[in-house]
Amino acid sequence: MQKGSGEMSGRICMITGTTSGIGKATALGLAKMGATVVMVSRDEARGRAAMDDIKKITANESIDLIVADLSSQESIHNLSEDFRDKFQNLHVLINNAGLTAEHQTLSVDGIDKLFAVNYLAPFLLTNLLLDLLKASAPARVVNVSSGAHSFGRINFDDLQGKKRSAMRAYGDTKLALQLFTNELARKLEGTGVTVNALHPGVVATNINSRDSSPFMLRLFWKILKPLMSSPEKGAQTSIYLASSPEVDGVSGKYFVKKKEKKSSKESYDESISQRLWQVSAELTKVGR
Ligand SMILES: NC(=O)c1ccc[n+]([C@@H]2O[C@H](COP(=O)([O-])OP(=O)(O)OC[C@H]3O[C@@H](n4cnc5c(N)ncnc54)[C@H](OP(=O)(O)O)[C@@H]3O)[C@@H](O)[C@H]2O)c1
Repeated sequence: MQKGSGEMSGRICMITGTTSGIGKATALGLAKMGATVVMVSRDEARGRAAMDDIKKITANESIDLIVADLSSQESIHNLSEDFRDKFQNLHVLINNAGLTAEHQTLSVDGIDKLFAVNYLAPFLLTNLLLDLLKASAPARVVNVSSGAHSFGRINFDDLQGKKRSAMRAYGDTKLALQLFTNELARKLEGTGVTVNALHPGVVATNINSRDSSPFMLRLFWKILKPLMSSPEKGAQTSIYLASSPEVDGVSGKYFVKKKEKKSSKESYDESISQRLWQVSAELTKVGR
């Protein structure tokens, strides 16, 4: 690809969870549009293989990889520092990495891994990079949520879902991400930085094919995967929110198939989003 060609040329985009699935397809889509793409993967070899694939397909050489385990707060701090060492601007941050889990396991920080990766990592990473996003405005944050947020509930006495079913715990983390999106949008008013969330559809990725995924979801995935959307299709709303002039200045919204939709009633509750922000700030020591 010629330097400077493409509608996202000159825009620096960081995407988490790019080894496979929707994240890799999003990185590919933005690379095709000429963006500088920074891929974030927890596994260097698989991350590099995905990056090499994208370079080969797009002939865009402005693709980078930073290795980070998003279940570790130290690793997220290192990710932010590594990014700043290499880049002066950040125009798009896509918090895409996520997982489902049958059983609760704890992160190195002693936090439920599902809660840590699906929700607390976007909170911490976005807050660590907020000054750079503001200085690079117009800039965008895109949070890959899920329709499953609608069966989540925020219980401040059991925020990390110790007492819940695997599905409910996943829904809780995605509801938390919706509440974060709405609270952050309010805090960012007038800064030129927008933040939106999305449901990518039911997409044929690895998310429910891992041994650690809930048994029922693994079964459902095995049977119905051939009927699901492709990762390329699942990436369309992320790419749209990262790049389209149609959403210039649009913030605090939820999108499905590139269309604005109402998210669940609880996701708009400001008393919950403010309290969740405070608790998250205490857990991460940022955003206070
Ligand atoms: N697929 C769907 O139907 C669907 C529906 C609604 C929402 N979503 C959301 O879409 C997003 C992308 O998921 P996907 O479907 O594309 O699944 P996927 O193929 O499993 O991709 C998830 C990505 O997240 C990464 N990841 C997981 N834990 C991580 C950690 N601790 N540190 C760094 N990276 C980590 C994975 O890396 P590894 O390869 O190293 O595990 C992988 O690259 C998720 O947020 C998911 O909740 C998906």
